[in-house]
Amino acid sequence: MVVLAAGKGTRMRSARPKVLHPLCGLPLLEYPLRLARELSPKEILVVVSHGKELVEEAFSHWPVKFVDQGEPLGTGHAVLAARAFLTAPRFLVLPGDVPLVPAQALQTLLERHLKAGALASFLTLEPEEPTPYGRVVRDESGKPRGIVEAAEASPEELSIREVNSGVWCLENHPAVWAALARLSPANKKGEYYLTDLVAALYPKVEAVLWPNPEDLLGVNDRRDLARLEGILRRRILECWMAEGVSIVDPAAVYPGPDVRVGQDTVIFPGTFLLGETEIGPNCQIGPQAYLWNSKVAEGVQIWFSVVEGVEVGPEARIGPYAHLRAGARIGARARIGNFVEVKASQIGEDTKALHLAYIGDAEVGPGANIGAGAITCNFQPGKTEKFRTEIGAGAFIGSNACLIAPIRIGEGAVVGAGSVITQDVPPYSLALERSPQVVKPDWARRKEGG
Ligand code: UD1
Ligand code: CA
Repeated sequence: MVVLAAGKGTRMRSARPKVLHPLCGLPLLEYPLRLARELSPKEILVVVSHGKELVEEAFSHWPVKFVDQGEPLGTGHAVLAARAFLTAPRFLVLPGDVPLVPAQALQTLLERHLKAGALASFLTLEPEEPTPYGRVVRDESGKPRGIVEAAEASPEELSIREVNSGVWCLENHPAVWAALARLSPANKKGEYYLTDLVAALYPKVEAVLWPNPEDLLGVNDRRDLARLEGILRRRILECWMAEGVSIVDPAAVYPGPDVRVGQDTVIFPGTFLLGETEIGPNCQIGPQAYLWNSKVAEGVQIWFSVVEGVEVGPEARIGPYAHLRAGARIGARARIGNFVEVKASQIGEDTKALHLAYIGDAEVGPGANIGAGAITCNFQPGKTEKFRTEIGAGAFIGSNACLIAPIRIGEGAVVGAGSVITQDVPPYSLALERSPQVVKPDWARRKEGG
């Protein structure tokens, strides 16, 4: 299996390699790699060049071999670069910029290839907009005789509707390598076109038309990227809806391909569900929620909030305008309200933090109440470590209290509003830290009179 990812991606007009641009939250190249892995080939070779370091780093955890094409001189040149590492009797070539290819299409391609005893076969499509693709020229008997790249095509050839998908099955055979070695870059782009293989190996070539063109669309520019994002989004959401999820407006929900959502959950507009997020049944998510790599139990409501790397327990209510960050674990029925930020903290069942609070590196017991403006001061200037706060079950932290960590507030304890707490508070005690109030009668009036 050879995945081509070395091209410059000029038409993207981007400093970033094309195959790293995200599609529904995953880099483009992830899609052909997943497809390749599904077929468990002997080896997966990824041909790289442009932005090679970035691509290799992004996929360093994948069991693939990166092959450096050097100067990327065309798709034919890219396949030649992989030659030395290919051991199977035949191999598939997947373009790194064609992300929605179904495994079934590869299966069909392979079957037809074997049945015909071809040296080379490729999948074709009939897209609505064939403009940038190579046109497939067939002979009277229907055999593909050649592929003419759009840049080289005559007006007559441009009117051909069937085009090359860039997905190939090639024999690891001397005749194929000889033909590849003889490719000439004497064309408009000055590239070694893999597509010239068709004329070179004619008639030992098969072209397999795949009926759903959407599956084989490529990404060359940002318009293509947005269009494919739309297609994949629709497919994911339709899948969820078929499983019993309500989506109020599918045009305004942005899902990732690895997200799972439970039955009777309702998703409102402006919602992003990305990464490995898992949502239980009977939840209400959105409007305006951003969830990434989070696990949400049943019956949860999250609206107008950002939730990243978090676990939310059953029937909790989050938002509006809450920010739950990495390592936050919110207990059952807890309520996290507006302008409350929680990071690396456990919030107990039924605990409430309803307004304007920061809870970081804390362990908050069940049934506690965190008042408006309360803050766990987990950070001290000049130190890199974060200090922990413990708040016992049923404790009451008054408004605007500062808890200077490391610190423990015992079970059932009360911290008075506005207090700066620097010493542990024993269970069921009241801690107050305030200067006595000063009242000067008539002070203002006297001042006015001079
Ligand atoms: C290619 C096909 C075209 C087909 C279209 C389908 C050729 C010559 N043309 O055109 O017939 O309709 O795909 O999407 O094959 N790449 C390399 N090294 C290179 C050049 C490209 O690895 O030297 C990679 C690119 O990163 C990309 C893929 O090969 O992933 C296709 O290259 P691209 O330049 O996008 O070819 P197209 O013009 O789209
Ligand atoms: Ca392309």
